[in-house]
Amino acid sequence: MRCLSCGASFNIDQKLIVCPICGGLLEIINEFQDINKNSLKGRGVWRYKELIPGNYKKIVSLNEGNTPLINSKNYENLYLKFEGLNPTGSFKDRGMTVAISSAYSLGYKIVVAASTGNTAASASAYSARAGLKTLLFLPKGKVAKGKMFQSILHGAVIVEVDGSFDNAMSRVRKLFNEDKDIYPVNSFNPWRLEGQKTIAYEIYEDIGSPDFVIVPTGNAGNIYAIWKGFKELENLGIIDKMPKMIAVQAEGASPIADFINKNQNEMKFVENPETVATAIRIGKPVNYMKAIKAIKDSKGTALKVSDDEILYAQIYLAREEGIGVEPASASTMAAYKKLLDNGYIDKKDRVVLILTGHALKDPNIMVNTEIHSVSQDNIEILINKLKI
Ligand code: F0G
Repeated sequence: MRCLSCGASFNIDQKLIVCPICGGLLEIINEFQDINKNSLKGRGVWRYKELIPGNYKKIVSLNEGNTPLINSKNYENLYLKFEGLNPTGSFKDRGMTVAISSAYSLGYKIVVAASTGNTAASASAYSARAGLKTLLFLPKGKVAKGKMFQSILHGAVIVEVDGSFDNAMSRVRKLFNEDKDIYPVNSFNPWRLEGQKTIAYEIYEDIGSPDFVIVPTGNAGNIYAIWKGFKELENLGIIDKMPKMIAVQAEGASPIADFINKNQNEMKFVENPETVATAIRIGKPVNYMKAIKAIKDSKGTALKVSDDEILYAQIYLAREEGIGVEPASASTMAAYKKLLDNGYIDKKDRVVLILTGHALKDPNIMVNTEIHSVSQDNIEILINKLKI
């Protein structure tokens, strides 16, 4: 394990979460020499258990992963990785199965997370399954209804924090420093990303290595995890070309996109992040150093899209492709269109969009603003219109 801040290295240790010297982010460096193809059994995250380090007394799984890679109807070389079909409706389940299996195996009884909603829902479900307790710090009034419901349903203890996700995250960091009996399952925990990297393995098994992978980026763990998955395949000699990693952020919460595009020396965090894409309403991404590494190493880029572009893309995916995703996930489709328009991506390039969360997670905006019903009196007129 190696610290991204001070460069210190440590023997792999499942108990390590941040650098014991400086508190920086740790990378888990796997030096796989070979993979025994016969070890690839079953489907989902644990199909790749030979490539997931750690000792597990028990695997706490809900059959996460194994999500479909759906070819777009309208764009021949576009593929949609529908992570909304995970057990709790988002990609977080891939990381959570590893993190909660670790917490259980290390003897923890309580896990903690800050969340814009999906991590919370996933942590609550997996720790319920493991018989652990979940403590959540959530930004007050800012978590989408579906996600809030899931966390309550699975029995988490919820503390609502004034301010944004970033304030909630600092509460977790503080608790983690003060109380070593509570296990953090946010993505600064590198073990979680060992589960999320399996997105790359599945894409490879379906279509090989694509030209570009577009990832909605908030706290910035997932783009690194997917890059890491492909990097490990490259190091194993299984692929000979890395996909370019593209981070997409919402205009009101885009520190990483600004850092990349404005050639800043230091990242400027956003104090009051704002966007309809509540999942990625994050101004201070804890994993930004990992995201920058993934983007730069793969020669990718980052961009921002507006709330209008996000909502338009959400409707496009739902009404043209038949795929219902939450706004954060739709940002990838908005980014694809933008990058086709400006020529960065060609229609011939093979591109994968990571559709991170299910539409049912975050219904508020559309239910509140769309004209979705007609009065009884107008039914006949409406049916005649549909027949045209
Ligand atoms: N898409 C969805 C649906 C998410 O819930 C998140 C993150 C992301 C994208 C961004 O992933 O943080 O790895 O860059 N949600 C976190 C949460 C922050 O608390 O559920 P990231």
